[in-house]
Amino acid sequence: MTLVTEVRLREVLDSRGNSTVEADVLTESGGFGRAAAPSGASTGEYEAIERPPGEAIAEARERAVPRLVGEAYAGNQREVDAILRAADGTDDFSEIGANSAVAISMAAAKAGADVLGAPLFQHLGGTFRGNSFPIPLGNVVGGGEHAADATDIQEFLAAPVGAPSVADAVFANAAVHATVADLLEERGEPAGKGDEGAWAPSIDDGEAFEIVDEAASIVEDEVGFEIGFGLDVAAAELYDADAERYAYESTGVDRDTDEQIDYVAELVDEYDLVYVEDPLDENDYDAFADLTDRVGDRTLICGDDLFVTNTERLRDGIDRGAANAILIKPNQIGTLSDAFDAIELARENGYAAVVSHRSGETEDATIAHLAVATDAPFIKTGAVGGERTAKLNELIRIEDDAI
Ligand code: PGA
Ligand code: ZN
Repeated sequence: MTLVTEVRLREVLDSRGNSTVEADVLTESGGFGRAAAPSGASTGEYEAIERPPGEAIAEARERAVPRLVGEAYAGNQREVDAILRAADGTDDFSEIGANSAVAISMAAAKAGADVLGAPLFQHLGGTFRGNSFPIPLGNVVGGGEHAADATDIQEFLAAPVGAPSVADAVFANAAVHATVADLLEERGEPAGKGDEGAWAPSIDDGEAFEIVDEAASIVEDEVGFEIGFGLDVAAAELYDADAERYAYESTGVDRDTDEQIDYVAELVDEYDLVYVEDPLDENDYDAFADLTDRVGDRTLICGDDLFVTNTERLRDGIDRGAANAILIKPNQIGTLSDAFDAIELARENGYAAVVSHRSGETEDATIAHLAVATDAPFIKTGAVGGERTAKLNELIRIEDDAI
């Protein structure tokens, strides 16, 4: 029933106005799945390769599509993904592009779910998945590679850990985002938005901490549940490997590795951070391990550029105690099966697996289903903006059993 009869590939627009790969998978019994690849800006050095969409599509049409059509079953995700890997023949999808691979992989999953008449999260998670919902981390102020002339820390995240429902959490993040705008206006700091819809004012990190902290407590008082604070430092973008220092341009401060560890550990305590992503360079497992040792009992230290959703890198991290959480971005590794393997390895070793969007997105909402299917404690989706709300609204629908 789920035999793949056709795979169509095309270029569509992403949220940055770039082109990206969209895939349609059709099956024998009329099943249909459509998915599009997201795209990063602060990409990790060890991510699978994203090729220019035109090239990725041409290569996938030549190498992968003929092996799938009439051969693979869309309901058998591991088979589809193994065929994509074999068709590509490299470890990092440098032939067909991780963008073609992930679009086809996710479209096949949706086609498989369609044939079953089941929502995607149920197809991916199975009958015995847990019954929890991920808390959305809302990017409310940001800079780094996502906006010019803004904060050095890439993302200041609202984390509505006390929200009684996904919908409450989603609206709380939007309220923090709106309150940040009010506070910026009061301070005479006009701000546009960065790639993920976060405010991107020309302020330094210290001022951003003050504003987000204040906005979170204002909204906390309004909604009556706890709103925590999280960060994506994206420290690989701050790190100068030759100087062995982290350079914070907005304040002119730079820190060596020990100072960076101290700085982040102090921030964890000062702001009760519940989540800290990429606080150190993507090659520095030892520094990650030192920080995790110091604060890992009270916050999540999450590897994004560090692990790139890659089980080999995660295994090294586990052996060295480098973190206690991993960020899961299917396009960093190329297929849903690989992403599931990383989630499983994380779980077996007591690591939290947090599902995430990219800075370049489409209206594709696969990650909402992936997060629910795998009982992710958190999902990164941004707070506002059409390509972000596509995921947030899908989470609300899943919670409402309206898929
Ligand atoms: P990216 O940023 O999608 O530009 O890599 C998101 C992140 O670093 O988490
Ligand atoms: Zn990140």
